[in-house]
Amino acid sequence: MSAETSAVRTVRLESPDATHQLGVRLGELLEPGDFVGLIGDLGAGKTHLVRGVAEGAKVPRSEVASPTFAIVYPYAGRIPLYHADLYRLTDYDDLYATGFLDLEGTESAMLVEWLDKIPQAAPRDYLRVTLKHTGGDARELLAEAFGARPTALLAAWMP
Ligand SMILES: Nc1ncnc2c1ncn2[C@@H]1O[C@H](COP(=O)(O)OP(=O)(O)OP(=O)(O)O)[C@@H](O)[C@H]1O
Ligand SMILES: [Mg+2]
Repeated sequence: MSAETSAVRTVRLESPDATHQLGVRLGELLEPGDFVGLIGDLGAGKTHLVRGVAEGAKVPRSEVASPTFAIVYPYAGRIPLYHADLYRLTDYDDLYATGFLDLEGTESAMLVEWLDKIPQAAPRDYLRVTLKHTGGDARELLAEAFGARPTALLAAWMP
């Protein structure tokens, strides 16, 4: 069960760079225990945003891998981060088998692409980010905070 939505923002991102810069700002703000779920079609820009987040969190560039080949990547930045992609998973048992659930907690921040594949992967309090194509290089980003810390995080990210 999610906490109720406590804050919502929408922003139009006109270019890949706009998405990247927004990611950098989020990466500067993330703290251990934060969970960010990323939702959107193929090519919507989830990974692109995460690369910005990693930069903002001071993850060495060489550490940021293509997320296509594994389910969960650890990044050592200013804080520990995990970047997960649930695209290839089908259900909660699958997720259990990856060990992903053991990683959730207070020591790392989590960035999870395709959270909508397995919504139960999210903790009660989290930030949900949905990206949509709106023609060409434009994207619309919807950010929804569930719970107190995600609401504070969102307010700092998009004042
Ligand atoms: N405004 C934009 N924001 C983000 N990416 C954009 C934008 N405009 C164009 N792009 C391009 O769209 C692509 C987004 O790819 P990305 O891998 O981030 O998508 P994804 O949502 O992670 O897809 P997948 O579901 O396959 O993992 C990149 O090639 C990026 O350069
Ligand atoms: Mg991706």
